[in-house]
Amino acid sequence: MITGTGITKTYKQRGNVLGGRDVPALRGIDFTVKKGGAVSFIGESGCGKTTLGRIVAGLETYDSGEIVIDGTPMSPLRPKKRQPHFRKIQLIHQDPYSALNPTRTIHQTLQAPLALRAGRTGRPKSWIDDRAEELLSLVGIDPGYVLGRYPHQLSGGMRQRVVIARALTVDPEMLVADESVSMIDVSMRLSILGLLKDLRERLGVSLLFITHDIATARYIGEDGELYVLYRGQVVERGLTEDVIAGPVHPYTQSLLSAIPVLHGVERPGPDRVVPLEALDERHADAGCLFARRCPFRTERCESESPTLVQGADVSHEHACFHPRRRSVIPVEAVA
Ligand SMILES: Nc1ncnc2c1ncn2[C@@H]1O[C@H](COP(=O)(O)OP(=O)(O)OP(=O)(O)O)[C@@H](O)[C@H]1O
Ligand code: SF4
Ligand SMILES: [Mg+2]
Repeated sequence: MITGTGITKTYKQRGNVLGGRDVPALRGIDFTVKKGGAVSFIGESGCGKTTLGRIVAGLETYDSGEIVIDGTPMSPLRPKKRQPHFRKIQLIHQDPYSALNPTRTIHQTLQAPLALRAGRTGRPKSWIDDRAEELLSLVGIDPGYVLGRYPHQLSGGMRQRVVIARALTVDPEMLVADESVSMIDVSMRLSILGLLKDLRERLGVSLLFITHDIATARYIGEDGELYVLYRGQVVERGLTEDVIAGPVHPYTQSLLSAIPVLHGVERPGPDRVVPLEALDERHADAGCLFARRCPFRTERCESESPTLVQGADVSHEHACFHPRRRSVIPVEAVA
């Protein structure tokens, strides 16, 4: 099990002669990913998703809070001692074009981490090639076809699968998939999502899925949990189906209101929630972080900060002073 408690991270952005600006990327995030579980983080660009994914994978430091991996807190450990723990968590780079070394064949790419593993566990050399073939078959590609090839000789979808096979060389407990906006090939996206779901079922590996798209979060984690991130804060959290079927935070409702409807089959939910203005990170941090954009704000929202609480008549948690169910998801069109 992997947990995060009160994770904060602030970047200093370089400015002009008057100095830089502090950019709070994460403002005290709590999360739990159970063994074999699936958790999705969604939110618009700049809300801190990639920062969180990199922190969880041990690729980025955090300012305060704690990451605990299978019962061991990470911050008291020296960087070298953290490595074996963070190795259990593998980040899958979603850009298959830059994730693989172009000068190495797929065999060489997989052979290096497998040789290390064989050394550590006392396995014979023959195991390395057998395991490389096994992993490629597991991610749905023909080892005979790809092993001798270079990344540029493969399609984008195949490269993405090789990236996943490489992540599996260390027998990870959790895969972190950061779905970048730049990955626009829809069919490739869907087949990779299907593969990740399949690996979760077959290997029991847990998934931390990072996306800007609520529909993707729904697909990956039918039985999982959804965390809605806004300006570095979790504003709504619960079972994915519960949050999507009954969102009470206006920000989640605005995300769901933006889902395109299937014309002729669906029509928009009767309550649309549209933010009053575009996201501007320079907004004051006093009060609710969504207040400037929220159509339902009151005076209280501008001076007090709501924290994540379990709603009285809601199945999940939210950070809003005026939580209310609104019918924002598309409904079936009446013929
Ligand atoms: N290395 C960095 N230096 C300075 N600021 C950074 C750095 N990395 C991220 N930030 C800032 O931290 C905030 C969160 O960034 P992050 O990349 O985590 O967002 P994101 O949710 O992944 O966005 P996107 O959906 O566009 O990928 C943003 O305001 C961003 O500008
Ligand atoms: S606390 Fe107020 S401003 Fe913030 S989301 Fe809820 S209603 Fe809107
Ligand atoms: Mg990102």
